Amino acid sequence: MTANHRTFLVFLGPPGSGKGTQARILAEKLGIPQISTGDLFRHHIRNLTELGQLVKAYLDHGELVPDELTIRMVEVRLAEPDAAAGAILDGFPRTLTQASALDKLLEAEGGLDLAPLLEVDDAVVMRRITGRRLCRKCDAVYHVEFNPPKVAGICDRDGAELCQRADDKPDTVYNRLYVYYKQTSPLVGYYYAKGLLAEIDGAQSQEEVQDALLRVLAERGLTNSGLRVTLPPA
Ligand code: AP5
Repeated sequence: MTANHRTFLVFLGPPGSGKGTQARILAEKLGIPQISTGDLFRHHIRNLTELGQLVKAYLDHGELVPDELTIRMVEVRLAEPDAAAGAILDGFPRTLTQASALDKLLEAEGGLDLAPLLEVDDAVVMRRITGRRLCRKCDAVYHVEFNPPKVAGICDRDGAELCQRADDKPDTVYNRLYVYYKQTSPLVGYYYAKGLLAEIDGAQSQEEVQDALLRVLAERGLTNSGLRVTLPPA
């Protein structure tokens, strides 16, 4: 791997599997941004942009936003200066059309490096999503049981109030799971066939999942390019 190689990872896994949690921690260690299409859409919705108004109903119902809108948004985001050394994509791609568009976007960069898949069953998903809380101001993610804030209902970072995501109601979560199995799970085979898939037991503790990710990165030689990673003990 050359010193100027851009590193691109794609996090796969059902809703609530911990993609965002893990991608944020790893992005900081690797010194590259975490790009969550869900967060980007919610940002647009909150700021009442034209894109936000176009996509709101899809998010409210747990349906996927059309590919063209999503791919364009990611293309623009990947061109920003903070992604000069690469990025961790969280929640993108979610369809085979998006995966093939990403391949084209990264063609000149040597392609994707790794697609970690966080495997958790539906019961774990429901427990994690129903207990998830978000900071209204900075989007920090907590869990009432597994990752509680120091003061209930208040963000540790900025003292703002925590809230629940609008699409975290049980009925919408069931639909998001259905959409995941129908439209996104074919990507598991897509990346397996390319030798990029790394299956990780996502039901472990946050620290154990992060350690497993770092080990896979080391095995694949992705820690040799000056990235700021400290490996956990074997
Ligand atoms: P998005 O925001 O991407 O939602 P998602 O994929 O459903 O994933 P989540 O954010 O719900 O879960 P996560 O896996 O990040 O888990 P987290 O780390 O928060 O997408 C939302 C919507 O946007 C979609 O429905 C769609 O409409 C649209 N969209 C987005 N991308 C799109 C695309 N590419 N194409 C089209 N439409 C798109 O963890 C969950 C909870 O568990 C947290 O409370 C956390 O604290 C806790 N937790 C995490 N890890 C652990 C652990 N190891 N042990 C215990 N608790 C844990």
